Amino acid sequence: MDMEASPCVGEADSKDQLRFITCGSVDDGKSTLIGRLLHDSKMIYQDQLRALARDSAKHGTTGGDIDFALLVDGLEAERQQGITIDVAHRFFTTSHRSFVVADTPGHEQYTRNMATGASNAQLAIILIDARKGVLAQTKRHSFICSLLGIRHVMLAVNKIDLVDYRKDIFDGIVNDYVSFASELGFASITPLPISARYGDNITKRSRNTDWYQGQSLLDHLETIHIESETTDLPFRFPVQWVNRPSLDFRGYAGTIASGSISVGDEIIVAVSGLSSRVKRIVTYDGDLAVAGAGEAVTITLEDEIDVSRGDVLASPTHRPEIAHQFAAHLIWMDQEPMVPGRSYAFRIGTQSITSGSISCIKYKVDVNTRKQVAATTLGLNEIGFCNLATVLPATFDPYRINRRTGSLIVIDLSTNRTVGAGMIEFSRRRTTNIVQQPQSIGKRERSALMHQKPCVIWFTGLSGSGKSTIANIVDQKLFAMSHHSMLLDGDNLRQGLNRDLEFTEEDRVENIRRAGEAARLMLEAGLIVICSFISPYKADRNMVRSLVGNREFVEVFVDTPIEECIRRDPKGLYSKAKSGQIKNFTGIDAPYEAPSTPELHLKASGERPEHLADRVLNCLAERGFITLR
Ligand code: ADX
Repeated sequence: MDMEASPCVGEADSKDQLRFITCGSVDDGKSTLIGRLLHDSKMIYQDQLRALARDSAKHGTTGGDIDFALLVDGLEAERQQGITIDVAHRFFTTSHRSFVVADTPGHEQYTRNMATGASNAQLAIILIDARKGVLAQTKRHSFICSLLGIRHVMLAVNKIDLVDYRKDIFDGIVNDYVSFASELGFASITPLPISARYGDNITKRSRNTDWYQGQSLLDHLETIHIESETTDLPFRFPVQWVNRPSLDFRGYAGTIASGSISVGDEIIVAVSGLSSRVKRIVTYDGDLAVAGAGEAVTITLEDEIDVSRGDVLASPTHRPEIAHQFAAHLIWMDQEPMVPGRSYAFRIGTQSITSGSISCIKYKVDVNTRKQVAATTLGLNEIGFCNLATVLPATFDPYRINRRTGSLIVIDLSTNRTVGAGMIEFSRRRTTNIVQQPQSIGKRERSALMHQKPCVIWFTGLSGSGKSTIANIVDQKLFAMSHHSMLLDGDNLRQGLNRDLEFTEEDRVENIRRAGEAARLMLEAGLIVICSFISPYKADRNMVRSLVGNREFVEVFVDTPIEECIRRDPKGLYSKAKSGQIKNFTGIDAPYEAPSTPELHLKASGERPEHLADRVLNCLAERGFITLR
């Protein structure tokens, strides 16, 4: 879940580097701890110290002492608010190890930042204020850490000076935490009493806590054994781009997500299953014989097989999962709640962007109690276990096996914002055994036989706007011009193919998905496909657009004011909806999202349907689909 560019992405996993995250509430002293760590391990230069002393006098919250938090809270805005508001990565090195610290905010609304920081950390320092003990927030952070695959926890009971260095208080907190965390599956939990402000047990054992026999925080960070995450895993190489500078060179560029590869090794292209052998491993500094996780390389193959951007090259003996449907834990990160069924884009692992949807939420998780709670949506910061579906098959590994290839982010198609992040648990329906059967006769051959250019004309608009009437006239006119067309109408499909669907948001999404699939098949058959559906949601219309291809999709917005539709009320449905006999009626108690850039916008009020149909034909002619005489 490398959601934002972070310094460790793309860097080789080295055994002597430790990536950790610090979690705690705003006042727990996180920034002070990191500042203290940098200072006591002699990572600060003198001039920085002088600047710090100056700043402390200006902004500090510690009276005359040096405020180490200022060293870390780099941004001016943060200083003024007295809180940390973003993920900051810091680097420091001791003679034993180098470190990357993700310092993440403790504020409730910044769970997404915490998840970002945790996604590539190997260890978490969970800070607790000795005066307050284990808080709801401590539990939430611990749960997120475990969900994101962090295996090692240091429980730093801070401000131990403020409770007179008392062992009983420390023991009580540790007991509380360990009994809570026992089910989270951490490989190690190391508790230690510290005072970040005075340096107790930070780089050396403190005399104030002579009852504590363990290592100092820094000693522990320097010596803890961390299993290598990516180098021992099977080979995965998401293709970032195809490098083809000349006819005699075709290489696949990207960063090795996991495992290693040598010249001569056999690989497969995950989705197609095509195989070949590695011919060369090309880098900026010359060819390599072997390359491993984190290295950016260009791979060339012995055979000319079909590989494109987004494909994953993988080990033939340990293949990744390939599925259209899979289950994942999602952390929702947007103010706008999730809409199951709505089309979203997913970035899976480090590469492929694929469009799909969250088909359902199995349950959401109460992060404080870890209880499963029934839910129909997820709001900001909520975590749920969901089923996801993609239009094209997705390649991944379960997150618990491979964090790089098992993570995903969810992108809102209309705003392009990252709205969620997820950990894939398992595939729901394996598509490894279903392959695309080659067909010799395709759209081009079929439409050539009919002397026409196929396309999908998609009418959208309110009930009673006149879509079906116009669509029908267009169909007649095309027929009269000897074109082969087919009309798909919402009302009609709802009596057959879509007979099982109602008018809830989820059912409408499915209604349009099926209509879109049917339209795609007819397009493949070479037909001019005329579709008439209210299709009230932008995301669903865009889904059909991407399904059939932008070039052959003509969206026609039949824009009739709702007052006019109500006045016409051809089927008497508006009056029923207004009296409450029909629920979820578009325009009354269900939304209609008008297209912002349709291929054709018909202001239909007061116009004759015949004339509007001619405008549709003109639009088709302008786009080269038909020729008007
Ligand atoms: S869509 O919203 O899922 O695209 P679709 O075009 O298939 O709708 O079907 C809409 C037709 O169903 C309307 O023309 C109307 O005749 C009928 N209908 C029945 N109930 C509703 C409702 N609650 N909302 C909208 N249309 C309804």
